[in-house]
This record gives sequence, structure tokens and C-alpha cells, in this order.
Amino acid sequence: MRVSLEQAIAELKKGEVVAIPTETVYGLAADATNDAALRKIFATKRRPADHPLIVHISDIHQVDAWVTDFPEVAVRLAEAFWPGALTLVLPARAHVSRVVRGDEPTVALRVPDHPVALALLKQSGLSVAAPSANLFTQLSPTTAAHVEAGLGEAIPVLDGGACTVGIESTIVSVAPDGQWQLLRPGMISEADIAAVAGMPQRVKHALHEHEEIQASPKVPGQHALHYSPRTPLTLYQDRADLFAACHALQNAGKSCAALLIGEGDAPACTVVALPGQPDKVAERLYSALHALDALKVDRLLVELPPADAAWIAVLDRLTRAGHQ
Ligand code: TXA
Ligand code: MG
Repeated sequence: MRVSLEQAIAELKKGEVVAIPTETVYGLAADATNDAALRKIFATKRRPADHPLIVHISDIHQVDAWVTDFPEVAVRLAEAFWPGALTLVLPARAHVSRVVRGDEPTVALRVPDHPVALALLKQSGLSVAAPSANLFTQLSPTTAAHVEAGLGEAIPVLDGGACTVGIESTIVSVAPDGQWQLLRPGMISEADIAAVAGMPQRVKHALHEHEEIQASPKVPGQHALHYSPRTPLTLYQDRADLFAACHALQNAGKSCAALLIGEGDAPACTVVALPGQPDKVAERLYSALHALDALKVDRLLVELPPADAAWIAVLDRLTRAGHQ
């Protein structure tokens, strides 16, 4: 159900959930100070309760209300990248809801760079917790229609058009001593963060569940199964292997569709070809996967981008989508 900005604010103030646009993905928002409302997020998404949520705030001046420490490094990152696709994890004040924190001692904060989201935060005076507006482990939504397809027509959706970044924010934790760690890669890169922080991150953090996560802090909610389409999906480093797989499937009477990255020949099945630039692929990645998933073929064949730094965030999401 599409709602206006005024209706969205009224619903949030009543303690209801509303799907809202951000520049990264659509979020399922609730008043970040209302535990009953926050629990509706977990129920709607069927998400485990120990997964903390990102609190969306209207500007940098809101940070102190949520955290006990706002170290100089974090201030510089916020000033450089907010509004934008960077989430900062900082030590939480005692009053911050344990539902938002998933029982962590920290809270995740972000100022979204989307005019509709910012208008909602400013006009309502609320801070809203919002995970991606999809069922747990399924593909994140980048349009209002994706939200409705995933969560049903009854969910109030504030339509702000298609998301322009297209994948979830970069998450960085900053300790009181200013040491920082990348918890989730995004389109703001590790190098971008290091340049503004003036130092490299403390420890290389394991980003996948199958790698052992030993360094603190924990990365709650980072499951290998995240972001999956319903259709089984195979990843290919080499396009020739993807062609061969397409051929073999079709010879066996199975259907397939392919996602290609960059120029070149296409296999003889339905194909979505994305341009070979990381920001363009990120913007359209989930839309392409949603569209391919809707074809209900037997298997999706997905070409991996080159394994270099510019592609880390896209590679991360594709690798997760490939874990069935
Ligand atoms: O771009 C985004 O970040 C989107 C939009 C809606 O803002 N939101 C999003 O939320 O991706 P979600 O719930 O799908 O992912 C939030 C992740 C959690 O899974 C967890 O890994 C991390 O943020 N997180 C949140 N609070 C944390 C905390 N206190 N400590 C460590 N990680 C935290
Ligand atoms: Mg998510």
C-alpha cells in the first residue's frame, strides 16, 4: 500500500512499520525508541532477534543522543560521508533500546542521502531503525514494487523511486581510541575510509561466515545466506564456463537465465547484461536479480566481476547470493 510522507509519519508515530526509500536499499522503518514498534520489524522480516538494526538519523548533531563516545576519527568520517552510504557503529548510551542493539554494547547510525528519507526524519523529528525491507535471507529491495513483492501489499510503502546506490551501506565500527574496522563492504571503499581516517583499519576482518571471525567486534547478522534469490544460482569467474553450463542445462531440458557483467557475447538464454563499472552494477544488481528470479527458470548463471578492490562490495553480495 503506497502512502504519502504525512501518512508514513503518522504510521511511524502510531508505532507501526513503514517501508521507506534510502539511496542504498529500501528500509523497513520503525521509531527507534519504541520497542513494540521495533519488534514488528523483526516479526515482519522473520528476522532473528539478535540481529541489530541501523538507526537512521537526520544529521550529525543527533549522534551524541545515541553514543557515549564520538571519537575524532568517527566525526571526520561522518563529516566526509554523511548524508551517505556509511554506517558508523559506536558505543551505545545505556538508554538505547536493546532491541535496536540486538544486545550489543554498540549502536549503528547512518544519515541517509535520500531527499524523501531526510524529509521524513526532519519533519517527524523521529530517528528510525530500518533494516532492508525484505524477508530475512532474501534479496534486498531497491524499488517500492520489490518491497511489495517480498513483504506483501499490506505493508505501507513510501515510494521514493529506484535506489541510486543499490547495495547496502558500508559499515565501520570505531572504538573510543579511534581504531576502526570495516564490518561490511559497500560502495564507500576501505581505501576511502582509510584516507579520511588517516590510518588503516586495525585488523583485517573476516567478512564471511565460513571464515572464522575471531577479531572483535562481532559482526552480528552477517550470514552467508543473505541476499539470495529463490532460484538456485551459480557463479562463474569465466564467461566460457557460464556458456558451457547454459548449454549443458538446455541439453538436459532445463531452463536458465544469465547475469553478465561487461561487454562480450551472450549465451542463448534470457540475459541481463550490466555495464562493466562497479557503481553501475551496484545500482542495478538487486533489480537484475529480482527480474531474473521472477522468470522462475531452473537456474541462474551469474558472471563474477574481476577480483579487484573496486568490485569488493559487489563481489560480497554476489557471493552471498550464490550460497544456497
Ligand atoms: O544501507 C543500509 O545499511 C540499509 C538501509 C536501509 O539503510 N540497511 C541495512 O540494514 O542494510 P540490515 O539490517 O539489512 O543490515 C544491518 C546490519 C546488521 O546485519 C549488522 O551486521 C550491522 O548492520 N549492525 C547493526 N548494528 C550493529 C552493531 N551494533 N554492531 C555491529 N553490527 C551492527
Ligand atoms: Mg538486509
